[in-house]
Amino acid sequence: MTELHRRDQVLPGGPQAPVPARDEGSAFEPAPATSPGPTRAAAPAPGGGGASSPRLVDHDVADLALAEAGVERIEWAEREMPVLAKIRERFAAERPLAGLRIGACLHVTTETANLVRTLAAGGAEVALAASNPLSTQDDVAAALVARYGVPTFARRGEDRATYYAHLSAVADRHPQITMDDGCDLVSLLHSERPGQLSEVLAGTEETTTGVIRLRAMAADGALRYPVIAVNEALTKHLFDNRYGTGQSTVDGILRATNILLAGRNVVVAGYGWVGRGIAARMAGMGAHVVVVEVDPVRALEALMDGYRVMTHAEAAGWGELFVTATGNRNVFRREHFERMRDGAILANAGHFDVELDLAALRSMAEGHVRRVRPGVEGFEIGGKELFLVAEGRLVNLGAAEGHPAAVMDMSFANQALSVEYLARHAAELGPQVYTVPEAIDQEVARLKLLALGIELEPLTEEQRAYLADWRQGT
Ligand SMILES: NC(=O)c1ccc[n+]([C@@H]2O[C@H](COP(=O)([O-])OP(=O)(O)OC[C@H]3O[C@@H](n4cnc5c(N)ncnc54)[C@H](O)[C@@H]3O)[C@@H](O)[C@H]2O)c1
Repeated sequence: MTELHRRDQVLPGGPQAPVPARDEGSAFEPAPATSPGPTRAAAPAPGGGGASSPRLVDHDVADLALAEAGVERIEWAEREMPVLAKIRERFAAERPLAGLRIGACLHVTTETANLVRTLAAGGAEVALAASNPLSTQDDVAAALVARYGVPTFARRGEDRATYYAHLSAVADRHPQITMDDGCDLVSLLHSERPGQLSEVLAGTEETTTGVIRLRAMAADGALRYPVIAVNEALTKHLFDNRYGTGQSTVDGILRATNILLAGRNVVVAGYGWVGRGIAARMAGMGAHVVVVEVDPVRALEALMDGYRVMTHAEAAGWGELFVTATGNRNVFRREHFERMRDGAILANAGHFDVELDLAALRSMAEGHVRRVRPGVEGFEIGGKELFLVAEGRLVNLGAAEGHPAAVMDMSFANQALSVEYLARHAAELGPQVYTVPEAIDQEVARLKLLALGIELEPLTEEQRAYLADWRQGT
């Protein structure tokens, strides 16, 4: 693990943080590799900015000079996040999180910045690290430090050691609430810092893979504090996983490759919430879609939604574009790469970069790997070339900007309200995984409809009585 150091630094107009050398080996343009280390302490007032020579909070970001660009993009996203804005307004008045230390491990995007601003408005002290080495938006990270006074530890393209050093920097601030996207912060606290666990009141988890890991910890008796599975809110996975990932996965693949989807053979592995969204959007753009599943109900659902269903082995020779969304490992592996046709494109939308067997791909290419264009590498294998997008990391964040803010509005409203709930009720909860309280889910949907100007049909008294009466039949 690299060690993070601190040094004094002045902004704006003063000396900027050293910009790390570009990682020449990366397929990405803005990809600083390891942390150059030094960073600094003490903050401008949260939400502030513009004060003369403010001292900055601890941080490790790529380039503080990007802060203004980050602020513009954060404000653009804010326009699409009316539910979170309403919550922020109430939090600022009521301060339900006053003094609460929150350690967050989330994708450092414009939407996350608006979530962090909301938590800070509620009185929380938030520190943030990236939840994926390739998902950080460097301008947003800079803005969080320089404009919003949030200790932020994230650099796009950071190596594994830096990624974990950044998580450690957040853990060093002794969080009382953890917010995770993939369970890495919870896992680090439990495995490397058990002495700190008694300080943690509770946590939240954003994604399916994180919830699976947490349930495994709870089943092992290893989980030491309660965690709310934000992913399981209906107003999260029905929209974020399906429409958010569906659209942004297509966005990432198109930005990286600029291929035509109409008429292309696309294989979607996994027909969960994410897979359904990707398949629907690919089909909507004219692709022929095949789904691969291991679950019989989901395979049937895919079939009756109008897709063909095949095994990986069958689909390998048919597909031209392969997208994984399973939360599982080695979904496409050596035996499949062998059958794939020349020019096949591989991308992953699942949380970790384990869905495509990258080790097999590398070993089969025997060093014949080239950067084809930003975000795309070519692997020469036995007279053909296979193309990998975004290093096999989640393609919607690695090659595009992640989910549109309008959908993250609901996911992060669930996060903010779940943290408020935990601030009040954590002491009543045991070390288990909890679903988001139904009242929060309903409130998020209600606020979103309100913001969209859509009215709900109310039940009449007669209808309400009918629904509650088991005696009435035909
Ligand atoms: N890229 C993003 O921004 C983003 C957003 C949300 C979720 N995710 C991640 O996407 C992944 C999927 O999430 P989800 O909510 O759709 O989960 P899910 O559990 O609803 O769906 C996963 C599906 O994959 C299937 N599956 C498992 N192993 C398989 C295999 N070997 N071959 C084919 N199918 C297989 C399962 O049967 C299941 O139907 C998770 O890792 C999640 O964390 C990513």
